[in-house]
Amino acid sequence: MFAVPDEVRNVMTQRKKSQREAATANVIWGGRFADGPGQIMEEINASISFDQRLYRQDIAASKAHTAMLAAQGIISASDSRAISEGLDVIISEIETGIFPFSTALEDIHMNVEARLMELIGEPAGRLHTARSRNDQVATDFRLWVRDALDGLDRGIQEFQRILIGRAEEHAATIMPGYTHLQTGQPVTLGHHLLAYVEMLGRDRGRVADCRVRMNENPLGSGALAGTSFPIDREKTSSDLGFNCPTANSLDAVSDRDFALEFLSLASILAVHMSRLAEELVIWSNASFGFVELPDSFSSGSSMLPQKKNPDAAELVRAKSGRVIGSLNGLLIVMKGLPLAYSKDMQEDKEPVFETSDTLELCLSAMTGMMTDIHFASARMAKAAGAGQSNATDLADWLVRVLGKPFREAHHITGTLVKLAEDKACGLEELSLADMQAIESGITEDIFVVLRLENSVNSRTSFGGTAPANVRAACTAAKDKYL
Ligand code: ARG
Repeated sequence: MFAVPDEVRNVMTQRKKSQREAATANVIWGGRFADGPGQIMEEINASISFDQRLYRQDIAASKAHTAMLAAQGIISASDSRAISEGLDVIISEIETGIFPFSTALEDIHMNVEARLMELIGEPAGRLHTARSRNDQVATDFRLWVRDALDGLDRGIQEFQRILIGRAEEHAATIMPGYTHLQTGQPVTLGHHLLAYVEMLGRDRGRVADCRVRMNENPLGSGALAGTSFPIDREKTSSDLGFNCPTANSLDAVSDRDFALEFLSLASILAVHMSRLAEELVIWSNASFGFVELPDSFSSGSSMLPQKKNPDAAELVRAKSGRVIGSLNGLLIVMKGLPLAYSKDMQEDKEPVFETSDTLELCLSAMTGMMTDIHFASARMAKAAGAGQSNATDLADWLVRVLGKPFREAHHITGTLVKLAEDKACGLEELSLADMQAIESGITEDIFVVLRLENSVNSRTSFGGTAPANVRAACTAAKDKYL
């Protein structure tokens, strides 16, 4: 066991006093200060309540740093070993919930270092050689965001997996396709679901891009200018899984664009989820009746016994606001900050943590809802037939079979639509005589063309809605994304 040095015994005694008193002599940077921060200062200055989430990354980076210091002969191998073992003890203390977090020690970096001092004494003081909290926090935070990106990618992929499965199941289920939320043309439900698979695929592309760009190691940049010690930044980079060391120390300690990129891609993903969530809200409305949401993602009304509310979908729709707010918030924090580090940047973590949690929750909710949602195929098909959604099929037939210019075909069809509306029926319910009165070339064949199945089956252009396309697209999506 290590002997407990005086300075460490002091810290331990201080911890037994009030927090205010404990703050009066900060062991890490107390040398220059006669008095400790007032309580309000302590409160505004401390980040430990939230940055304790960086503990794994902080300790991993410290271990890489100390191993490098030893390999370079900057500290002794035995000190490095003591530091590393002490850090392992700290990890287990944190994970078993017995670590004594202290706001007087501001942040995760100083909490860990002070505890290390308590545990191993003098060698702990060597850990911070050739390092500043500025490059330390930049490193920890990048490592954290990198893990978050990896988790996010897995979460999005799982959501895609469910959507592709449901799309395959409903490759030929007909539903109305809308523009302006007015019936446009019939489409297949599978095609509609695959639209989200594509959006999510691009979201994952943004995750991957962000990961590549951010995966550079700030450690070794010091406070802002680098260090005079003969450090090996390549070693810490490879030990921590970074592609390379950052090229400019001023940039490395002061850029937070990786966090902004994370929040940007998060915002776009949240917007994608909110659009599907909105569709679930609309589709579950009784006037539509296209879906029945799983009970497990709905709630009842305290007053209206018949109600089943799409709360989870509404909340996914709403939570996009928080995510976008986080992006805006951090952009505003960063805007106009002079180089290099400013304490303003301590405000970078909460929006990122909160966004990561929010996305995880929303992805789980959307994945759960889409797994168990019931699609009312008959209702969808009925709605698909309303609103003269087959008008384009008629116009296309006039072009294809009668050789009409599309503009003329459009006009003839418009006249027939007007006639059908006057008779309060669908185009397919007009008699052949009625149609021929407007365009004599129309034959019986038109009634086959006007059938909804025929309409969707005919949309075989690449990227179109035909069931055969949807089946092929599901296979392609599985290859590409799963
Ligand atoms: N808790 C600080 C942060 O998150 C760590 C860096 C502090 N650096 C400093 N020079 N005071 O930004």
